[in-house]
Amino acid sequence: MTEPDFLTATRTAYDDAAAHYAEILPERFHANPLNYAMISAFAELVRADGDGLVADAGCGPGHVTAYLRSLGVTAFGVDLSPEMIVLARDAYPELRFEVGLMDALRAEDASLAGVLANYSILHIPPERLPATLTEFHRVLAPGGHLLLGFPAYDDPAELAKAFDHPTALAYQYSPDRLAALLLQAGFAEVARLLIAPREDSKLGISHAYLLARRTAPGPRA
Ligand SMILES: C[S@@+](CC[C@H](N)C(=O)[O-])C[C@H]1O[C@@H](n2cnc3c(N)ncnc32)[C@H](O)[C@@H]1O
Repeated sequence: MTEPDFLTATRTAYDDAAAHYAEILPERFHANPLNYAMISAFAELVRADGDGLVADAGCGPGHVTAYLRSLGVTAFGVDLSPEMIVLARDAYPELRFEVGLMDALRAEDASLAGVLANYSILHIPPERLPATLTEFHRVLAPGGHLLLGFPAYDDPAELAKAFDHPTALAYQYSPDRLAALLLQAGFAEVARLLIAPREDSKLGISHAYLLARRTAPGPRA
C-alpha cells in the first residue's frame, strides 16, 4: 500500500532535523514545569493501576520516554523517523525505542496501561485524527490512560487549522473539539491544561494537554 504523502514528508523532515531536535527538545521540555504537571500526573495514574506498559507515541529523541521512566513507569518510544530512533537509542540505551507509526502501533489489543502523544499529533491531518484515536483506544486496556499534548487554539467551531511549523505541515487543535472526538472514540475526558501563548517564546502559540481515560468498548457509531 502506498504511504500517504504527509507521512513521507514528515519522516523526511524529522530525519533531516533529528540532530537539531535532539538538542533543543529536551531543553524546552525541561524548562517548563507545566509539562511535568500533566505528565507526572499521568504517570501517577498509570502507576496507581499497577505496573503497566506505556507507549510514548512520536517520542522524538526519547527525553519524555526517559522522564516517564524516571517516574517509575515502564515506557517505550515509537517514532516514524528512523534518525530520531537512532538518537533516542544512543541517548537512552537502557530504554526500548522502535520505528513505527502512531496509528499502527505494534501492540496487542488492550495491552497498554497508557499512551502519551506529546506534541506529535500536531502532524496528523484532522481527517485522520479519528483513526489515530481509535488506534490508541485499541491498544489501551479498559480504564487505561491517554495524554495528548498539542498546539491549541480557541475556536471551538473548527477542529484544526494548519500553522506555520518550521519542520513539517502541522495543525493546532481545538481542545473542545478534540475532547468531543475523544468521547466518540470511547474515552472520557479527565482533565485539561491550557498554557498561554505568551509562554511559547518561539512560536507564540497556546499549548494544551488533554488527559482522558478509556471507557467505552469501542468507537461510537
Ligand atoms: C515535535 S516532535 C515531539 C517529540 C517529543 N514527543 C517531544 O515531546 O519533544 C514530533 C515527533 O513526532 C513524530 N511523528 C510525527 N508523526 C508521527 C506519526 N504518524 N507516527 C509516529 N511518530 C510521528 C516525529 O517524527 C517527531 O519525532
